[in-house]
Amino acid sequence: QPVYLSDYQPPAYRVTHTELTFDLDPAATRVKARLLIERNDQADGKAPLVLEGEHLTLISLAIDGTPLTESEYRLDDHGLEIHAVPASFSLESEVEIAPSANTALEGLYQSSGMYCTQCEAEGFRRITFYPDRPDVMATFTVTVIGDAQREPVLLANGNPVERGELENGRHFVKWDDPHPKPCYLFALVAGNLHKVEDTFTTMSGRNVTLQIWVEKENLDKTEHAMASLKRSMTWDEQTYGREYDLDLFMIVAVNDFNMGAMENKGLNIFNSAAVLTHPDTATDAAFQNVEGIVAHEYFHNWSGNRVTCRDWFQLSLKEGFTVFRDQCFSADTNSAPVKRIEDVSFFRTAQFAEDAGPTAHPVRPDHYIEITNFYTLTIYEKGAEVVRMLCNLVGWDAFRRGADTYFERFDGQAVTIEDFVNCMAEASGEDLGQFMRWYSQAGTPEIDAYGEYDYAHSEYHLTLRQRTPATPGQTQKQPLHIPVRMGLVGTKSGQDLTLTLAGEKLGKDAVVHLRDDEQTFVFTDVAEAPVPSLLRDFSAPVKMHFPYSREDLAFLLTHDSDGFNRWDAGQRLAMLALDDLIAAHRNGVEKVMDTRVTDAFKTLLTGAGASADKAVLAEMLTLPSEAYIAEQQPIVDVDAIHAAREFVRQSLAFALRDEFMAVFEANRSDEPYAPTPEQIAKRSLKNVALGYLMAIEDDQAIAFCQEQVAAKHNMTDVRHALTLLVHSDRDDLSGPALKAFGEKWAHDPLVMDQWFTIQVTRPQPDVLERVEFLMQHPAFSLRNPNKVRALVGAFAQNRVNFHRLDGKGYALLADVVIELNRLNPEIAARLVTPLTRWQRFDEARQALMRHQLERIKQEPLSSNVYEVVAKALA
Ligand code: ARG
Ligand code: ZN
Repeated sequence: QPVYLSDYQPPAYRVTHTELTFDLDPAATRVKARLLIERNDQADGKAPLVLEGEHLTLISLAIDGTPLTESEYRLDDHGLEIHAVPASFSLESEVEIAPSANTALEGLYQSSGMYCTQCEAEGFRRITFYPDRPDVMATFTVTVIGDAQREPVLLANGNPVERGELENGRHFVKWDDPHPKPCYLFALVAGNLHKVEDTFTTMSGRNVTLQIWVEKENLDKTEHAMASLKRSMTWDEQTYGREYDLDLFMIVAVNDFNMGAMENKGLNIFNSAAVLTHPDTATDAAFQNVEGIVAHEYFHNWSGNRVTCRDWFQLSLKEGFTVFRDQCFSADTNSAPVKRIEDVSFFRTAQFAEDAGPTAHPVRPDHYIEITNFYTLTIYEKGAEVVRMLCNLVGWDAFRRGADTYFERFDGQAVTIEDFVNCMAEASGEDLGQFMRWYSQAGTPEIDAYGEYDYAHSEYHLTLRQRTPATPGQTQKQPLHIPVRMGLVGTKSGQDLTLTLAGEKLGKDAVVHLRDDEQTFVFTDVAEAPVPSLLRDFSAPVKMHFPYSREDLAFLLTHDSDGFNRWDAGQRLAMLALDDLIAAHRNGVEKVMDTRVTDAFKTLLTGAGASADKAVLAEMLTLPSEAYIAEQQPIVDVDAIHAAREFVRQSLAFALRDEFMAVFEANRSDEPYAPTPEQIAKRSLKNVALGYLMAIEDDQAIAFCQEQVAAKHNMTDVRHALTLLVHSDRDDLSGPALKAFGEKWAHDPLVMDQWFTIQVTRPQPDVLERVEFLMQHPAFSLRNPNKVRALVGAFAQNRVNFHRLDGKGYALLADVVIELNRLNPEIAARLVTPLTRWQRFDEARQALMRHQLERIKQEPLSSNVYEVVAKALA
């Protein structure tokens, strides 16, 4: 059943042009296709024509106008094979499909009454018989016929070229997309939609019309997405010299969507959560997320659409590169250090966990059963880290030249990761041979580092030893080329010292290249004993172990010139304290707070730290999350982790109550809301302080929370304060606030998502019952992926409650997975993830989790859920 990268064969036939006509109907949409097909020169003249097709009712099939008889083709659940075809011909087919019955949200489906599509990766085969593979690229002409009342708006890729009225109240619009594209980039939208319009003039002076299409009640939530789109267009011109290539660029918001958004040519389709914002309904984080996703999809126009992937094993070619591009855009637009801190802390929590689990895979996998299971943190985020390393290795100028070559040489083609890396090697003259292992080797590399200062010779000896733990199917690992950016911070001067290696002066901040299993770097002319600052800016996606003392870390926290590593030193310092407390909790010993952490926080709040960038400061005052702490433990003890972290929060709040209060007061503001970096920084710092004060249920803090919830000034403050109230033990306060919020926002699905999440992430033990209760709430629906994520997905992240020792949390998740497996296999397969991490827990929980996995496995499963569950139980 698996597909293997090594089995790749170029297609025997290509489609040069695709003509489609959709006659829309919820239960019986007719799709007529006319494909102009040519045999490839290298192909065998007797090669059959293979077309994928699923959930299609075949109405008619003809070649060059002559209907085919049943003996001329073979039809099964997966598609159609026509035994003999000419070297050049047109294939005409008609099929019937049922968009209203499509709960998988792949292919053509209905969402809140409107028609929309999702074809990546293999959804187009649910629309018509077609060679559904990215290396078949055609120009498309699409006619959409709908009801003039119900579907006044009919959209597809490219430019509208014709429209008109038909009989029976029907009308049509014909669209033409002149850029050859694989069918996964096809899109169609039809419904009662309203638009906001703007224009953009490209660097060469062409005018592009920009449209965002939404349901009427959301017209006031598009401004930020539109502004983000224009900024993205400018950024790609200035940074990569890439310009938009059609006269029209459209974004559509749909409520039911499996992922964030999709880069269909000229017609991006977005999950409404990834595009709609309003100060009253969306948090700062949501505003920033929308900006990043709008940019991401827009950037795909070059990195993905103009140059696409040869096969789905190359997925990271477009996703890793495009995530890297959107990360750089967000860093340029907002606070760069904070963007990096956010991305890395998410990465180290979630991607490291993926690498350590049964579904670990390389950035370029070599086999899969179900490709939708491979839209993962490894393909996206680790892929982006690998591109970032490439960029740093060759330097921006060479990277930009390499990107230019890549876009020019492969324009209109479907290519491989080698093609991309070769452009970078060519542009820089670097040998990237060993570097390629980053694409084929799974798992998180770990570096054990040791340093020694030799007073007599003024030398610093740094030894780096790398190892990558075995992952499923890959027991032997080879050494990787790991760029370690570093500095040596003098303990006397508090300054970065000049790095001299093998007689060469490298400056105060340099990259050492670890290529072997073990290497020792001898730095000479080191005038004072240093503390090494390693892996600056997270220069490689690895775990770096160095035996820092707490004094070293406190020193780096205030003296490291690298903002990222200053933050990281704080996290490491907190981790050492947390480790002690976790051990104390397990051993039933009294917990004692490490005063070095308290002192460090005091410095941050009052001393040198208070003058730092407020957004960075807010990050530095945030303790590692329970999920991150769990990643650091050999066996996860959820209760001990929760208790230890709460103990630290409360200790800090008791010791520094006045300091937190002062920071809170100093950063309150009543200026009108804007999602600017300055305002966001102030709000996050203020809200972090409020969070500590609520850890001790400070009376004044409670009053501030109530004030913030009632002020309705912006959703960031309202949501944060409401969360703090609901997550406190003061049910007398949280109940009424929650009720009022739920009633006020009952009409807004995106706000109700937040209302669900706030409730099911509270640490109190009544949560499981609440999840069951809320699943019956009228605003909840299993068919809406956002709702499933907001309620059930969020609950599975609630560490103490999901991992209840009676196993009821696991059972609840398994019940939902089993039901969703029938409705929406892609979402079901994602939802099961927390259960697949059973190896990380104690024996009692392991047994309970495995039991639920076995239960799921007994069901008739989709290939999506099967693949994940089988790996988890292997
Ligand atoms: N290419 C899209 C993006 O990264 C995501 C596609 C989602 N595909 C899927 N099968 N869920 O923006
Ligand atoms: Zn993408």
